[in-house]
Amino acid sequence: MNMQRIQTLEGNHNLENYEDTYKNFNWDEVKDAFSWSHTGKVNIAYEAIDRHAENPDKADQPALIFSSPDRQEQLTFTDLKQASNQFANVLKKHEIQKGDRVFLFMPRSPEFYAAFLGILKVGAIAGPLFEAFMEQAVRDRLEDSEATMLITTKDLLERVPVDDLPNLKQIVLIDGDGEGFISYEEEMKEASKSFDIEWVDLEDGMLLHYTSGSTGKPKGVYHVHNAMLQHYQTGRWVLDLQEGDQYWCTADPGWVTGTSYGIFAPWLNGVTNVVRGGRFSPDDWYETLQNHGITVWYSAPTAFRKLMSAGEALVKNYDLSNLRHILSVGEPLNPEVIAWGMDAFHLRVHDTWWMTETGAQVVCNFPSLDMKPGSMGKPIPGVEASIIDNEGSELPPNQMGNLAVKAGWPSMMRAIWKRPEKYESYFLNGWYISGDSAYRDEEGYFWFQGRLDDVINTSGERVGPFEVESKLIEHKAVAEAGVIGKPDPERGEIVKAFITLNDGYEQSDELLEDIRQFVKRGLSAHAAPREIEVKDKIPKTRSGKIMRRLLKSWELGLPTGDTSTLEE
Ligand code: WT7
Repeated sequence: MNMQRIQTLEGNHNLENYEDTYKNFNWDEVKDAFSWSHTGKVNIAYEAIDRHAENPDKADQPALIFSSPDRQEQLTFTDLKQASNQFANVLKKHEIQKGDRVFLFMPRSPEFYAAFLGILKVGAIAGPLFEAFMEQAVRDRLEDSEATMLITTKDLLERVPVDDLPNLKQIVLIDGDGEGFISYEEEMKEASKSFDIEWVDLEDGMLLHYTSGSTGKPKGVYHVHNAMLQHYQTGRWVLDLQEGDQYWCTADPGWVTGTSYGIFAPWLNGVTNVVRGGRFSPDDWYETLQNHGITVWYSAPTAFRKLMSAGEALVKNYDLSNLRHILSVGEPLNPEVIAWGMDAFHLRVHDTWWMTETGAQVVCNFPSLDMKPGSMGKPIPGVEASIIDNEGSELPPNQMGNLAVKAGWPSMMRAIWKRPEKYESYFLNGWYISGDSAYRDEEGYFWFQGRLDDVINTSGERVGPFEVESKLIEHKAVAEAGVIGKPDPERGEIVKAFITLNDGYEQSDELLEDIRQFVKRGLSAHAAPREIEVKDKIPKTRSGKIMRRLLKSWELGLPTGDTSTLEE
């Protein structure tokens, strides 16, 4: 399969010639697309929404089409400008200021988008939290960010340990009121639809996304308004967004794909953004594609694999003729999925590689570039990616090493919240080290090989083994725990835990299920181990570090390699 090439898509693309553009492109060329290039006034929310609302040709076009099993709603650019202005006024009234952290913990809804944009309009920093998070996950993020305000729903409120969060001064309830809470509905009713946007610097903060590493608690990846350059431009080059598009990104805004490509890229390009609430089902997804006449669809391998197993015949029941191309992110895109895309849709599925820390796409397949199935493609113009060794030197073609990005790309994270040494540790010789291993072939295509650290990727979601281990040992029966990713055909990897039991506890199915539920209740469903195996001992180094590598070798039946640091 590797050597087979899939030729360039027909049609008129925003990026005609990849190689020429790569050679000649300079980010200064993009600045003209933004009003700040002539007004000097910067705010990403203004560029995404208000700019279009002030353009008579765009003002009444749909910006957001929201659809969930029990709610259908459409907001034009004008509607969204006004709703976010109202929310900005609510924030102002409650003294939220530039730089404050305001978190959102709620399902996708029109209110989410109005609130998110409102936060940016006052110059505050938005912290979107995935709605499936449980108490510990919510607590870690609110504590670390020292968020002063949270926007949430009545249902989710019970997972917020309000009394233990001294910085959290105010809570906005979307669907209710009550003593001590700010009612979204009430205050929005009274709030003015006009607002003087807080103008910021391109280097001012706008977004905190917490993500997992192999050690420690989740870390706050800090992004600034300047990221808009890359959101906008990859929206043109990679998503190939064009006037009149109906674009659908399936990611939740609790993850970076759901903000960079579920909010910024489409709206900076003035394109209609379709958002679907509710759970995944093949029929509902195909219906969304059909009923909204989706032209560009961005999703993830785990979803594609589920659709594949639902069968190709199903696709034939729907009219998907508006679809121009499909994009994928989050995990390796199997060549089988690309073949399925060609068979079932007669379309290319474009793999894109990037991560929370990069803020936007880095290595991609472009509609105007030949594809090699199994390869992630090539770096976007204006960004340098390479394979480097552990000393920070570039490696020649076909040698495996660290996938790295030359520091200074527009949407690069600007900090790890409150942890400057941690931030520094990601850089070597001017390169950002991604934690992924890959190689580059003679033609400059990048091939993903795996993670270099212990981070688990389950259904495209990043899980830190340390967090799961910490939660496991809080269970009264668990003495020690080591957590790994175990390869799985549908989910990519599943979370597998090895545990030892405290004296007085016997292994039983009920106990293991209770432990699983304990992690699920504490962290979130995707972090709960699907498999738990009881051991007599968890292998550790002499310095007490869990040897996850050894656990993994056991699991896979592989040679155990160097165990010289193993305790005893
Ligand atoms: C990690 C980043 C950025 C959006 C979603 C994930 C893995 C991402 C690909 C790809 C193989 C991929 C990497 C990366 N990953 N895209 N196209 N092929 N692996 O963001 O949660 O920050 O996770 O996801 O391992 O480091 P994230």
